[in-house]
Amino acid sequence: MTGDAATIVLKLGGELLEEPDGRRDIATAIRRLASRSPLVVVHGGGREVDAELAAKGIPQQAVDGLRVTDAATLDVVVRVLAGRVNTQLVAAARVAGVQAVGLTAADAGVSTVTRAEPYTAADGTLVDLGFVGQPTGADRPVLLDRLCQAGLVPIVASIGADDRGQLLNVNADTLAGHLAARLGAARLLIAGGTAGVLDAQGRTILSMDMDMLQRAIADGRARAGMVAKLIACREAHRAGVGRIDIVTGTHTDNLDSSAGTTILLSGLEGSVSERKQDGYTGTGHPGSRGRAPAAGVQPRADRAHTR
Ligand SMILES: Nc1ncnc2c1ncn2[C@@H]1O[C@H](COP(=O)(O)OP(=O)(O)O)[C@@H](O)[C@H]1O
Ligand SMILES: [Mg+2]
Repeated sequence: MTGDAATIVLKLGGELLEEPDGRRDIATAIRRLASRSPLVVVHGGGREVDAELAAKGIPQQAVDGLRVTDAATLDVVVRVLAGRVNTQLVAAARVAGVQAVGLTAADAGVSTVTRAEPYTAADGTLVDLGFVGQPTGADRPVLLDRLCQAGLVPIVASIGADDRGQLLNVNADTLAGHLAARLGAARLLIAGGTAGVLDAQGRTILSMDMDMLQRAIADGRARAGMVAKLIACREAHRAGVGRIDIVTGTHTDNLDSSAGTTILLSGLEGSVSERKQDGYTGTGHPGSRGRAPAAGVQPRADRAHTR
């Protein structure tokens, strides 16, 4: 870890963490990132939760990737995410030589979380999400800073608690975007099961500016869990996070060379000549993308044009 380098927030989709091979690869990827920057990891565990809910016969409902969470669902979410998934990832990181510390957003100084207001879905319907938490507050997450300064890698399961002690299920992308904003992160890197944001033909959209991102949500080209990711990217973008990518994390131990979508920080970066008719820039097939080595903070001047 370099002393005063700005932090990277890495969000891991649960499907990357289900199998030992995947965890081993991801643990190596964590080591690579943590070797050059302070690193905070946030993870979900959606599919393992789905499997456990199905095994218990608990019905499932989600809106824009946010899980409608009743008491029975919350119980499963907490046990799977803060229990098995988090601890297995911490253990895999340790094997890879990473000194990881498992946490949730309920731990001191990670994030204040309040019960989410009824949610207006991308299709306009209003949904009571139940025991779902919304990360709030603007304070710096001092605990995460301190752990990073000590050469440790915090691995945060996306569970929080409100100020009355009620546990709440927080979407992991939402938490990652929020923490990236509050940490003033150099980078938000969201690794999941798809090669970034895909177009209607299933090809990776190489880059998106804020207008394209908004349109993808509004016109339904981004659905389900991708909506939560894009909204998280938007929060990080608004907070001036220096680099934001959504990439595939499957079958790789180096997320810097993963195919995916870069969220453009400046309206000028997506030049008109690159623009396709549909408003997206540079589509390409998953895996076709040459990715620049990880960046530090982008020059401030670039952000002067940020919309
Ligand atoms: N345009 C899109 N590009 C990529 N994935 C999309 C898109 N629209 C919807 N999705 C869905 O979003 C999912 C990713 O969100 P999610 O299931 O919550 O994964 P994670 O566990 O990584 O948060 C993809 O697996 C895919 O099914
Ligand atoms: Mg998700």
